[in-house]
Amino acid sequence: MRTLLETLRLRLEPFDETHFAGLLALNSDPVVMQFLGDGSPATAVEVQASIASAKERWERFGFSWWSIIRQDSDEIIGAGCVQHIENEPGNPVEIGWRLKRDHWGHGYATEAARAMIAFAFDVLGVAAIHATTHPSNERSINVMKRLGMRSLGLQPYYGRLVAVYVLER
Ligand SMILES: CC(C)(COP(=O)(O)OP(=O)(O)OC[C@H]1O[C@@H](n2cnc3c(N)ncnc32)[C@H](O)[C@@H]1OP(=O)(O)O)[C@@H](O)C(=O)NCCC(=O)NCCS
Repeated sequence: MRTLLETLRLRLEPFDETHFAGLLALNSDPVVMQFLGDGSPATAVEVQASIASAKERWERFGFSWWSIIRQDSDEIIGAGCVQHIENEPGNPVEIGWRLKRDHWGHGYATEAARAMIAFAFDVLGVAAIHATTHPSNERSINVMKRLGMRSLGLQPYYGRLVAVYVLER
């Protein structure tokens, strides 16, 4: 099942082919991608593949990636996820976020994250939600702290040591 989430300023829509242009604009920015994957901007083919794989995971698990859309302009300003760490079904569930650079500094990531956390706790019924990031990604760590998440230190995921935070229900 694909679940749409809404907040005061945002709409979170499960990834769909119609989001391609907005997601390409987001993921082809080297500054946005600096701490993600191998740090290189995504290509059109990679964005298409990520939409296809998110759609498949929505069907299979009932959670995956959303496009983060401004209610007042319908613009795609970012993306967020609830997923198994490393997409390994045996791993804990994590939340993630990224925003277009011109939308940093307005609380949009925190606002979207609160809706994704409520979904994970209330709809999926998970007992704890994790978040992982590159240890130098201060902006992302600040979002985790703002959400009241607690540090679990550095752990080996995604082929490197990442900072891990947790929020219990
Ligand atoms: C990580 C990322 C999403 C954080 O974005 P952000 O804009 O700093 O975070 P938020 O949207 O929660 O906004 C918080 C900032 O807005 C300010 N703000 C303004 N209005 C606000 C409001 N209504 N509510 C909360 N914060 C508000 C806060 O004071 C804070 O400002 P500060 O950076 O000066 O402390 C963004 O930097 C990004 O996309 N980075 C690249 C991708 C990435 O690395 N993602 C994480 C991978 S793990």
